[in-house]
Amino acid sequence: MKIIQITDTHFVPPGQRLYELDPRSRLDACIADINTHHRDAALCVITGDLAHRGETDAYIALRECLARLEIPLQLMIGNHDHRERFCKVFPETVLDDNGFVQSSRDTEAGRLLFLDTAQHARHTGHYCAERRQWLHRALGGASDKAVHVFMHHPPFDTGLPSCDVLSIENADELRSDLSTCPQLRHIFFGHVHRPVSGSWRGISFTTLRATAHQTLLDFEIEEELYFSHEPPAYAVILLEVDQCTVHFHDYSDDSPRIATGA
Ligand SMILES: [Fe+2]
Repeated sequence: MKIIQITDTHFVPPGQRLYELDPRSRLDACIADINTHHRDAALCVITGDLAHRGETDAYIALRECLARLEIPLQLMIGNHDHRERFCKVFPETVLDDNGFVQSSRDTEAGRLLFLDTAQHARHTGHYCAERRQWLHRALGGASDKAVHVFMHHPPFDTGLPSCDVLSIENADELRSDLSTCPQLRHIFFGHVHRPVSGSWRGISFTTLRATAHQTLLDFEIEEELYFSHEPPAYAVILLEVDQCTVHFHDYSDDSPRIATGA
């Protein structure tokens, strides 16, 4: 099963730029590349921070852009999003019983969980009692299926202070609940705007660069003073019950292709 992950599109209203970049043109190019090379993908997941300031006009522009994507789409929200405005522009989005943008999907590779870690008007994440109940049911209902989790905020520190200060406030409870699921195979997240992979308590994880601006690789600074224009990327996830392989593609790279016989 092939899944495409895009993250942190940070859309702004038409005509605006963000940190001297055009988020729309960078996502346009991303979608064109996916349509050319990955029409066989079962799903495209965008792991949050869809709009930079959560304006309705930004979500409308995003919807227009995404209309060209030729594979099924799963949208998630992050700390830059506005849940109510997002839901108005994307009314087909599946919500849980409490109105959070989270859902599960059973596939040939196991159960995929899409978590809503956002809290209104805060950049840190939150794991409230309602979402905790939902996750208990979703993990419990997976039975013996493999489980793969998608979320915006990572449930643990990544070692980059500028990201770790914006983590999930009560992440201990989330970590405790995820740890009780022996079938949990992999955690995919956004938020970091950098490629990072590793394992946590034996569970593998990955994140990747945004389609918008990127975070500097700086292990000292807590406050984000600068962003970079490192190239955008998307991930190609090859998911099976017993294996998860993640490829990162710098889709804007236009360096020359050198023939092997040259
Ligand atoms: Fe972001």
